[in-house]
Amino acid sequence: MSTTFSMTPIGFARTPFKDTSEISKGIGAKHTREGELEILPEMVAGLQDIEGFSHLYVLWVFDRVDGYELIGRPPTDDRPRGVFATRSPRRPNRLGLTVVRLMSRRGRQLLVRGVDMLDGTPILDIKPYLSSVPPAELKRGWIADAETRSGRGEDREWTDGD
Ligand SMILES: C[S@@+](CC[C@H](N)C(=O)[O-])C[C@H]1O[C@@H](n2cnc3c(N)ncnc32)[C@H](O)[C@@H]1O
Repeated sequence: MSTTFSMTPIGFARTPFKDTSEISKGIGAKHTREGELEILPEMVAGLQDIEGFSHLYVLWVFDRVDGYELIGRPPTDDRPRGVFATRSPRRPNRLGLTVVRLMSRRGRQLLVRGVDMLDGTPILDIKPYLSSVPPAELKRGWIADAETRSGRGEDREWTDGD
């Protein structure tokens, strides 16, 4: 069994962001901008029935980052954290995961809200978002502490722990 995997994009994100500095991050960050997921013609058949879902998981590649660090200092906090306890772009397999709202579909273009990736970002996969975890059971780890320390606990539903 192979332990390396090669993947090719199913499409590319079209977003308003040309530079990472334009994407809000850290405590209180809100991702409300719209963008398009432009699916490659040979993958379009896979979009059948997608219109019925309000939200989607988008799996994508941090294609403009080099290297990774297992311990880093997130913008959300002033303390070092393990990469797998954060959403840092500097991670071993460079995988990004974003939940977006599906606004509409136009052919091979999905108009979505809530993008946080750069324009031209390669998309590896899309899946329907179906949350099954009751909010009361969710533990937010160090992010909850960071929010409390920063006095931004009220914004917690927007903070994804960069
Ligand atoms: C903190 S990450 C979170 C992304 C995703 N929601 C996740 O959890 O995997 C978002 C940041 O990644 C960076 N970024 C976005 N698109 C990128 C790309 N294509 N290559 C490298 N970095 C990117 C930007 O700095 C952006 O603010």
